[in-house]
Amino acid sequence: MKAIRKITIGLVATTLLIVGCGDKTKAASAGDAEALKVVTEESLGLRKTDIYTEAGTAAEKTEYRTAAAGGSLKIKRAFQDAPPMIPHDTDGMLPIKIGDNQCTGCHMPDVAEYMDPKPTPIPVSHFTDFRPKHGVVDGIFKKAVDNYKNEVAIKETEKLQGSRFNCTLCHAPQSQGNLAVENTFEAKFTSKDGASKSSWAGTTLTDSLDTIKGESFVTDENIANKDSAAGYLNEH
Ligand code: HEC
Ligand code: HEC
Repeated sequence: MKAIRKITIGLVATTLLIVGCGDKTKAASAGDAEALKVVTEESLGLRKTDIYTEAGTAAEKTEYRTAAAGGSLKIKRAFQDAPPMIPHDTDGMLPIKIGDNQCTGCHMPDVAEYMDPKPTPIPVSHFTDFRPKHGVVDGIFKKAVDNYKNEVAIKETEKLQGSRFNCTLCHAPQSQGNLAVENTFEAKFTSKDGASKSSWAGTTLTDSLDTIKGESFVTDENIANKDSAAGYLNEH
């Protein structure tokens, strides 16, 4: 009973407040209209079916492309140096296993070269080793790079790197249509053929990763850190 009386008093107070405001200026009454605008539950979210039942509610069907490798049309890259989407059917190729990677069977550069139509060869970045080789010397752990100096380990090799073996970690087939929300993102490609080709090779690949060389935010002074009130390490 007590609670109901409290609510009633609250309502009266609110009504007085609204009436009071409405009387004052025109601007205030426009504000009231704004406050009364109703947002229905149905208008919220992307779901277009009854939100109180799951019956008849199902996600749109995933529809991967069905054209076989060699008969598909490449998909425009999402942005400069984005991993390209797989444009062809991958039926029977997945999951990739240590002894069964069909992707490499067509996309390794020395194979792709002789195929028609030509599969895009696996790029140089996938043959580059970015992992520093730390080790133990005379029982003491020794780092291969000096992180205080922002050193990086970049080594071009002839071998497809293990980190790139599982292609579908980064390259995925694309489902067609049935988008809940249309993607309006437009890429600004920095190289002329950026929509169809990666630019990560040679110095473009290494320079952008080496934060010390060329245009860098980290200066030698930053590394020396001699102004630091906390002192600095002589070693570095
Ligand atoms: C039978 C040979 C073959 C196999 C196996 C194959 N591909 Fe392809 N792939 C192609 C060809 C050829 C193209 C070029 C488009 C076309 O002609 O269908 C292509 C295109 C691509 C592209 C788009 C490249 C670009 O420049 O846009 C990606 C990514 C790709 N394949 C990844 C894969 C992955 C990942 C696998 C393993 C799951 C795989 N492919 C297996 C032949 C193959
Ligand atoms: C760790 C993520 C990753 C993995 C794993 C990976 N890729 Fe890529 N791939 C990329 C990215 C990012 C690019 C674009 C930038 C570049 O060239 O490195 C790319 C580019 C490519 C291209 C286009 C090259 C060009 O010249 O335009 C092909 C073809 C390709 N990858 C095939 C493969 C295949 C086949 C595998 C498996 C053996 C694989 N990738 C594994 C991330 C990956």
